[in-house]
Formats: sequence, structure tokens, C-alpha cells
Amino acid sequence: MADPVADRSHASLPMVGAAGLAPADPVAGAPGHVAIIMDGNGRWAKARRLPRIAGHRAGVEAVRRVVKAAPRLGIGTLTLYAFSSENWRRPPEEVSDLMGLLLQHIRSEIDELDETGVRLGFIGEWRALRADIVAELERARQRTARNSKLNLVVALNYGAHDEMVRAVRRLAAEVGAGQRDASTISAADIEAALDTASFAPVDLIIRSSGEVRLSNFLLWQAAYAELWFTPVLWPDFDEAVLRQATEAFARRERRFGGR
Ligand code: FPP
Repeated sequence: MADPVADRSHASLPMVGAAGLAPADPVAGAPGHVAIIMDGNGRWAKARRLPRIAGHRAGVEAVRRVVKAAPRLGIGTLTLYAFSSENWRRPPEEVSDLMGLLLQHIRSEIDELDETGVRLGFIGEWRALRADIVAELERARQRTARNSKLNLVVALNYGAHDEMVRAVRRLAAEVGAGQRDASTISAADIEAALDTASFAPVDLIIRSSGEVRLSNFLLWQAAYAELWFTPVLWPDFDEAVLRQATEAFARRERRFGGR
């Protein structure tokens, strides 16, 4: 059997969706799964002498734009890095503002997300967030579970190291319980124990704001992903920028270690 980790030829899965929900203006060879590090909200606000929360609010508008644009471009899964496990180090007021925005956004957008066929999913330790947020996220997840126009995955309280530690612990527990032989653990087993196990392989990782690093985001999944960086600050990110990234991806030659 082909190793699903080594064989990423199924990377650009056709977008799932019922007839009539076809993307409006798809890019040929669009990535099946795009993951975005949404960076630059603070700098956007600072440049306008506004409080950081204003940058995050403008960032939410950019989230709305890319969620609408992704299926139109032919992207089937969109993962957004909304809150990292390291973001707890920010001042408590900013953490509380971000949590408030998330709750508010989910509440105000859920009807439209559901009506437009978006299926919501989460990665990271999102169940450790505030109880009222967890309840809202869980409701949204269940309500949209049968949708298929776009898989929208929000990384919340997510860190790639933390994700790998949890996966290792799970596998180790199975070894300890005698359900698994340590010598047979494969890359596919590890992949299956990660938070992203049920999603298509990540094809393209985008980071806004000119920073050129992955910041503990999808490190395992990045092994064969293409990377694309833009100086555009997240609150200015729109369909045109996503299209630019999508077209750049379509022009790249992916060899997955082969020739
Ligand atoms: C990075 O900007 C952005 C974040 C830490 C949070 C991203 C969150 C949102 C866009 C809003 C909530 C999300 C959803 C899905 C509703 P930064 O503050 O690090 O910017 P800086 O590097 O310029 O300071």
C-alpha cells in the first residue's frame, strides 16, 4: 500500500460539493488545502495610531473575505491560525479581546457559514478554552458537520509541538496498553494521530506581514507543502491576494522528493 505520507499525489483533491455549488472562478491546479498564518494585525493598527483590538477587528473582516473567496478559487480546505498556544503570553486584555472577537464572530457568522455550505472544524487544544466558547464552537461544529462546500479549520490554542506531543502520548499509551507494537509505528500512524488526520494534506502555507517563518504552525504537515509569503498585512488581505498565492502555487513543480 502506498504510504500516504510519502505519496502526496492526491494533494490537490477536487473540491467536494454538490452540483450548483461549483466555484465561481477557479484557478486551474489550485491547492486543495491552504493554511494561513494571519499576521500583521498589530502593525496595521499601529500604522493608523489605533489600538491593537482595531487591528484584530479588521483582521476578522479579512477572515470573512478569504472564507468567501476560497471556494470560488477552487480551494476545498482552509486552515486559519487564529490563536497559538504561545499567544497566552500576550497581555491578558489582548487575550480577552481575541477570545471576545472569536465568540462574537462565531455567533454572528454561523447562520451564513451554514447556509453557504461551510463545514467548521478546529485543531489545537480548543477544548481547553473558556467553557462558553467551547460550547459555541462545539455547537457550530455539529451544526455544520454535513456541509461540504468548504472545510474551514480554525487553529485555536494550537502549537505544532503540542500537537506532536499529544500524538506521541496517544501512541505511547497504546503501546503501554499492549494494543500497538512500538517497532511498527510508521509515519502514517503518526499522521493519523495528529489533529489534522481527517483533513486533506496541506498543499500551501501562506504567511502575511512579511515575516518568513512558520512559528510552530503545522510543522509535520509542512514537510511537502509549498510556502508563500507576502508583505501584505493581514487586515489588508483579500481575494486578489489569495488568488495571487493560488496562481503561484499552480505554477510550482512539486516533486515530493522524487525527480
Ligand atoms: C497576528 O497579528 C494575528 C493574531 C494573533 C490573531 C488573528 C486573529 C484574528 C484575525 C481574529 C480572530 C479570528 C477568527 C477566526 C474570528 P499580530 O497581532 O501578531 O500582529 P503584529 O505582528 O503586527 O503585532
